[in-house]
Amino acid sequence: MMKGKENPLILGIESSCDETAAAVVRGRTLLSDEIASSASVQALYGGVVPEIASRAHADAVDAVVQRALERAGVKKEELDAVAVTYGAGLLGALLVGLSFAKGFAYGLGIPLIAVNHIRGHLAAAYLEDETLRPPFITLLASGGHTAILHTLTETHSEALGGTLDDAAGEAFDKVARVLSLPYPGGPHVEALAREGKNVVPLPKMLKGEGGYNFSYSGLKTAVINYCHSAEQRGERVNRADVACSFQCAALDVLVRKTVEGAKERGVRTVTAGGGVVANGYLRDSLTKACAAAGLKLVLPTKKHCTDNAAMIAAEGLVQYRAGNFAPMSLNAEASIPLF
Ligand code: KG4
Ligand code: ZN
Repeated sequence: MMKGKENPLILGIESSCDETAAAVVRGRTLLSDEIASSASVQALYGGVVPEIASRAHADAVDAVVQRALERAGVKKEELDAVAVTYGAGLLGALLVGLSFAKGFAYGLGIPLIAVNHIRGHLAAAYLEDETLRPPFITLLASGGHTAILHTLTETHSEALGGTLDDAAGEAFDKVARVLSLPYPGGPHVEALAREGKNVVPLPKMLKGEGGYNFSYSGLKTAVINYCHSAEQRGERVNRADVACSFQCAALDVLVRKTVEGAKERGVRTVTAGGGVVANGYLRDSLTKACAAAGLKLVLPTKKHCTDNAAMIAAEGLVQYRAGNFAPMSLNAEASIPLF
């Protein structure tokens, strides 16, 4: 059922972790996409300190939203709705964006839309290809979630399977620490892996060959053990080889299972989302695997894989079209189920 305008002007706001972001879309057309990150400050602490993230959001949110409106060339009075991430994420951080969005929507007398951050990652693909329509299979790999999903309609997706323990991004961050690389680890592991070879024996991460579930904790422990036992023997570890071998072990399985999922479900289109999908090796492997299987691949730009507000506005459009608006009593939630 269609409610309101076909191509509404939606402001998206994201503040679930260390990125304060705002974006404006008209329908599926992205008009602006602004971001302020506290990652460089967080890097000093080796991870995200929630209180520092909340304060950085509070300092940045007003200016980031103003900038998004200016770059889009729209006045706030022209907006049709405000979409905001209400979870999952750091509670204090979420509350900053949510409170701002509520005030903004209330002041303008327009609807508030509650966006599940993970559904935002899924919606990033809509910005890449305006013609994209379900059904499609999505490889979702972020710092908090890793799963293979089947989207049947814009508002209904099913999980084929996912990680039973750590998320893929979390594994990259932990292995980065073992290799003395800074936070966030993913891009640093990727850069180091480019100088190495896939020669370190690491375990397969599949739980049940036929299924879609996998486990990252065994792989992470294997990397730690490999480095520690080499150290104990007084041997120098080739860190680049470790990074490369870990990257292959962590990502090859995701590519293989995504393509298998599409074949099994008879779906011809594959998409991807989440910070780990910014990884060049993963992007190349998925591109090749989809081409070999005759599948259409819609891959969001790297900027729209890591946290951003454009994807929140894109999911806001899905919810707007479905007539799903949130009450002003909407609260932030640290964890919410995938669907
Ligand atoms: O989606 P995202 O920005 O935030 C969450 O919703 O979690 O994902 C962040 C995760 C981090 O664990 C980060 O290390 C990982 O994505 N990541 C990468 C790369 N860029 C970011 N992992 C592997 N390779 C990358 N290039
Ligand atoms: Zn995210």
